[in-house]
Amino acid sequence: MRASVLSDWLAQRLDRGNGQPVYRQLHRLLQQAILSRELPAGSKVPSSRLLAAELGIARNTVTQVYEQLALEGYVTSATGRGTFVADSAPDEIVGAPDAATAVAAPLAASIPDATPLPAARALSARGARLLSGAGVSKRQWGAFMPGVPDVTRFPARVWSRLHNKYWRRMRPDLLTYAPGGGLPLLRHALAEYLRTSRSVRCTPEQIVITTGIHQSVDLAVRLLSDPGDVIWTEDPCYWGVRSVLHVSGLQSRPIAVDEEGINPSPDDLAQPPKLMLVTPSHQYPLGMVMSLARRRMLLEYARQHQCWIIEDDYDSEFRYGSRPLASLQGLDTAGQVIYVGSFGKTLFPGLRIGYLVVPEALAESFAMASAELYREGQLLQQAVLAEFIAEGHFTSHIRRMRTLYGQRRQALLDAAGRRYGSEMPAVGGDAGLHLVMQLPHDADDRAVANAALERNIIVRPLSGYYAEPASAPSGLLIGYACVPDEEIAPAFDTLADAIDSTLVQFA
Ligand SMILES: Cc1ncc(COP(=O)(O)O)c(C=O)c1O
Repeated sequence: MRASVLSDWLAQRLDRGNGQPVYRQLHRLLQQAILSRELPAGSKVPSSRLLAAELGIARNTVTQVYEQLALEGYVTSATGRGTFVADSAPDEIVGAPDAATAVAAPLAASIPDATPLPAARALSARGARLLSGAGVSKRQWGAFMPGVPDVTRFPARVWSRLHNKYWRRMRPDLLTYAPGGGLPLLRHALAEYLRTSRSVRCTPEQIVITTGIHQSVDLAVRLLSDPGDVIWTEDPCYWGVRSVLHVSGLQSRPIAVDEEGINPSPDDLAQPPKLMLVTPSHQYPLGMVMSLARRRMLLEYARQHQCWIIEDDYDSEFRYGSRPLASLQGLDTAGQVIYVGSFGKTLFPGLRIGYLVVPEALAESFAMASAELYREGQLLQQAVLAEFIAEGHFTSHIRRMRTLYGQRRQALLDAAGRRYGSEMPAVGGDAGLHLVMQLPHDADDRAVANAALERNIIVRPLSGYYAEPASAPSGLLIGYACVPDEEIAPAFDTLADAIDSTLVQFA
């Protein structure tokens, strides 16, 4: 396109009445012209004086646009010779836009600000797989959000006192990257806590601090398996770790659960996996406890076949009516268990601090790998947490929350009983932060969850936690921990209206 043609083309498209600054419009139009190769590489653009005069705009505007395009790599300026289109536009270098379409696209066609790429083309196969199974909720707070503790009860004053203390002391070593494995002070405090409260057998050196269970599983899977290896997962299981596994290149084999936990069939047992991922203290999401017999069987099987067991101990602190159960790791004598835990439920999810406990022989490799892969930090936060634990605030917070959540759980069971009697039984309520209400087998639990959301109530459909949702049992995960006591009964009534109206609709 010759310079004079360009001026005409620009003049036709600049729209002074559309509310967008002329500077931005001109910048975008010139970018389009370059990307579509209507302004080919090496061609000269009109001088700023000429273009400004022909468009009737300030020269300064054109100069600024040329400067911006030069910064972005679209044009280059040669002193005394003028401004030229660069050899390759920056987006072609990074491969973002569809260059072939851009060449063919007539300049006259209107191109939106940023041409969105068809998702199937932009994403890798594993990226597409991850997103097709994505389960994260846009809302993370409110009745009956499962898995979320009552963050409003967090002892913020104590925390901020400790935080301020560390900021006042200004220790540079807490503001740098973390040494592999996390802050030694926190690893010591945690080792003590895990030994006494969870029967985990470990030294501080076996602990690696992470940003939570997601990252712990990611690290364990990367270090202990190769793409194509098989991992057993419980069916149903937590969608979040399933997502981590989706991008790991592992093949997940869903294993059924019964009232004693994961229950591999003879066929499953005939094909030992590289790894298995289990929730022995509180099966997620159904809530049963893995029996001692099943624990022994799994440990023995893992020892014989050299498999790793990842024990996800995400919320075992909250057990109502009986003491929290000892960990599987504590029974392991062969060093086959990788124990993962989190402060997401005991303190608050946004803290993003969790931990792995790995067998002694792997401790150094895990610590080094986590620093290599994730370049960890957050040491000041870790120092605050270590002191929070050492001063006893952690255990007293858990104790208080256990009582509170126990009352809320009862309030929810009462509300459900009043409305449905034994018609819709609830399971998994002995521990944790949610229970599962079973719906008639052919009920569409997704439709119920959507109907509830329209009434501002968040619940999760149980079928979504199964490998085959279409043939899965129907139910709802109902979180009670974050709902104030007095809101539980009215919120349940609203939920029940959503359930009833959906079930009637599909009856
Ligand atoms: C079974 C299970 N594992 C792990 C997590 C997440 O842990 P984190 O927040 O530490 O990544 C959750 C959260 O709901 C969960 O239910």
